[in-house]
Amino acid sequence: MIPVKSNRDIDLMRRACKITAAARELAGGMVRPGVTTHEIDKAVHDYIVSQGAVPSFLNYNGYPGSACISINEQVIHGIPGNRVIKEGDIVSIDVGAYIGGFHGDCAATYAAGAIDPEAQRLIDVTRQSFFEGIKFARQGYRVSDISHAVQAYVENNGFSVVRSFVGHGVGEKLHEEPEVPNFGSPGRGPRLVKGMTLAIEPMVNQGTYEVKVLKDHWTVITADGKLSAHYENTVLITDGEPEILTVCEGL
Ligand code: MF3
Ligand code: CO
Repeated sequence: MIPVKSNRDIDLMRRACKITAAARELAGGMVRPGVTTHEIDKAVHDYIVSQGAVPSFLNYNGYPGSACISINEQVIHGIPGNRVIKEGDIVSIDVGAYIGGFHGDCAATYAAGAIDPEAQRLIDVTRQSFFEGIKFARQGYRVSDISHAVQAYVENNGFSVVRSFVGHGVGEKLHEEPEVPNFGSPGRGPRLVKGMTLAIEPMVNQGTYEVKVLKDHWTVITADGKLSAHYENTVLITDGEPEILTVCEGL
């Protein structure tokens, strides 16, 4: 069953998602050479708590951080720690906040200082693939119409989409139905209905789409060691334009 949110639920989702988006903004603004991933994670934690919310990821299946911070060939679920960000790194930051019974979930990839132009192109294509996808995040389309649009844009730009991790419904639980893959033929999967809230999150690799998980059981890296980028927002299906709920109104 795919949860359909009431107007009241949606107001609560908006509040959770605004805090989540502000936490992403704060974290992204901290990305520069010399900063540790722990410092960013702590800032995310303290901000979310200061808003009366709870970091969604902290202790989720035993996850030890409030943010996932994934550098270069790390795709997702990088664990914050004493690693120092260096010039030229690309840094993916994923955050979630829970308040009023609902979660927000969003992510983006940031450049540390001057980066390789191809790394910047990877970041830009990843972000734009999300916007290509949400052209189909409308009542009447099916889930895989989003998936197909993301995949087509990414592959037309010479990159690949991760297959073994997918987007998802988000609401009272961090992960709800439906799964929202970033690949597939159009016209498949559940039909989208007003009131559904989806975390649409392309994970895009420079080389092969294949990934592996490190021995820490969390960090997902590209199988070929090439770069990866991530971009995610929580999106509301309406009877018109999709609404991005993870928007930041300033810190
Ligand atoms: N934001 C991730 C997602 O979209 C969740 C991170 S997993 C966690 O699925 F364990 F860190 F919470
Ligand atoms: Co997500």
